[in-house]
Amino acid sequence: MKKNIIPHSYQVSVADRKKVNKHNSILLWFTGLSGSGKSTIANLVEYELYKKGIKTYTLDGDNVRKGLNSDLTFSPQDRTENIRRITEIANLMIDAGLVVLAAFVSPYKKDRENIKKTVKDVNFVEIYINTSVEECERRDVKGLYRKARAGEIKNMTGISAPYETPENPDIEIKTEEESIEDSVTKIIDFITPKLKLSYE
Ligand code: ADX
Repeated sequence: MKKNIIPHSYQVSVADRKKVNKHNSILLWFTGLSGSGKSTIANLVEYELYKKGIKTYTLDGDNVRKGLNSDLTFSPQDRTENIRRITEIANLMIDAGLVVLAAFVSPYKKDRENIKKTVKDVNFVEIYINTSVEECERRDVKGLYRKARAGEIKNMTGISAPYETPENPDIEIKTEEESIEDSVTKIIDFITPKLKLSYE
């Protein structure tokens, strides 16, 4: 299928777009259990970036699964396809010059490795939102853990489906020990040098 596809080169490059935006484009990938705090922290990080005039967009599991990925379940294959599509979208957004925040359970190491390969190491920041399953279940903001325990939801990450813990994340946030303000500051401090254009 790919053999008759010849990519077209456009005059405005990613470098041009970054120059107009005055910052680099990178992907901040938030991984962790459902209810761990990924979306909450991503939301606050995006707001800090927005206040600095940085162009952002956030992709979020619960939102994307309502539209583009509404055909996908939580089987291992569908989760991989979910992450593959998001990765391609994030890659386009990086090309568009944006700072992309993506909050997905993304439980498989292999899928997260593929993101890094696709968007390139230098553009990828892996942020592990480390909240124990016990704490997520205690919070149970969406009531999904209760349903999983009752057998109403199959393949629930942390209960009846695996979560492969990141071994070497760029940033790890232990939400049971760190305040949300400190977590946001930690992320902003880590990415600030990465956002600077090299010729500045
Ligand atoms: S992923 O595993 O494919 O990366 P994704 O981040 O898109 O998952 O979606 C996770 C969200 O879907 C959770 O925050 C939760 O609200 C909801 N959800 C519904 N069923 C499940 C399930 N079986 N396992 C995990 N999350 C689920």
